[in-house]
Amino acid sequence: MRAASPITSSRQQVVRAARSQLAIEARKVAVLGAAGGIGQPLSLLLKMNRMISQLALYDIANVAGVAADLSHCNTNTKVTAYTGPEELAEALKGADLVVIPAGVPRKPGMTRDDLFNINAGIVKGLCEAIAVNCPDAVINIISNPVNSTVPICAEVLKKAGAYKPRKVMGVTTLDVVRSNTFVAEANQLDTKEVDVPVIGGHAGETILPLLSQAKPKVEFTAEDAAAMTKKIQNAGTDVVNAKAGTGSATLSMAYAAARMAESVLLGLNGEKDIYECTYTESDVMPGFQYFASKVLLGPGGIEKFQPLPELSEFEQQGLVAMKELLTANIQAGVEFANKA
Ligand code: NAD
Ligand code: LMR
Repeated sequence: MRAASPITSSRQQVVRAARSQLAIEARKVAVLGAAGGIGQPLSLLLKMNRMISQLALYDIANVAGVAADLSHCNTNTKVTAYTGPEELAEALKGADLVVIPAGVPRKPGMTRDDLFNINAGIVKGLCEAIAVNCPDAVINIISNPVNSTVPICAEVLKKAGAYKPRKVMGVTTLDVVRSNTFVAEANQLDTKEVDVPVIGGHAGETILPLLSQAKPKVEFTAEDAAAMTKKIQNAGTDVVNAKAGTGSATLSMAYAAARMAESVLLGLNGEKDIYECTYTESDVMPGFQYFASKVLLGPGGIEKFQPLPELSEFEQQGLVAMKELLTANIQAGVEFANKA
């Protein structure tokens, strides 16, 4: 694998420029599941974001201490804590962005689908509260299985008459972050300058990195492309195995979710050219009601879907391979949300 032509990552340039001339808006961000493995480092990163004036931390336990701890960091973001369902409404009211890492993580030997029985109900309950208390907020869903929890969120909001399809986003940023890191490492590139879009979903073979679209352009042999794709698809499982029963990716996930939150807020604030990949209801790929692809973010959430680029033969095979699993994951989410 070799870099064909160096270019500068447009995201880095746009974000740097936007940060330097930020018109600070009073934005409220709520983190649901804030005392968890992802929730804590994510909340720290969000506390350092100058676009956030209030950070509302919600969990079913242990969140008061997390908020007290974070509140001593001398940034201007005000941190507040909310514990248990009776305080959820207050956490949500006025939120511009709600980030959801609530739910159980995998242990070795489990698939993300094995989390469905517990996490589907958690996400459903949280989204019912969002529908009532902050129906205009952008929602970033981290809880697994993302392929199903995003349809659950959408269906719950539809039932409540509060669905804004351009504002419900499954967080697949970690797949992009991993792809950028691995492709940069394999090609001796500056990680910050690499951008690899990832489409499909967020589980096993539904994670499809578009190596043919990597920037800067990188040449892969068929064998290298297959090996790199497998490495990206298995990266979450590799962390689960390395953590040996104590959880799944938390720190890299917090980093990725903080990046996604920053991009959403830049978009809400009217910054131009803010692009991210996200898993959402979309028409981008006929045959898939929900699909991850690159979108332009803006004041209304998703402003525009980028049409899929021309895929390599290997990537086209990847699309075929994911069809059955992604369709079943979507179906499971829709059915769960709509059962009595
Ligand atoms: P964790 O167990 O460390 O933390 C989860 C937190 O959620 C806990 O603090 C728990 O009290 C809280 N919680 C449980 N039920 C809740 C409810 N009803 N309301 C509010 N909070 C509730 O787990 P973690 O490592 O932080 O992972 C959280 C989720 O994120 C898992 O489902 C995991 O699979 C997923 N995840 C997704 C990605 C991704 O790329 N999208 C990456 C890593 C992990
Ligand atoms: C990840 O990709 O790290 C997450 O989806 C967590 C997991 O279970 O792998």
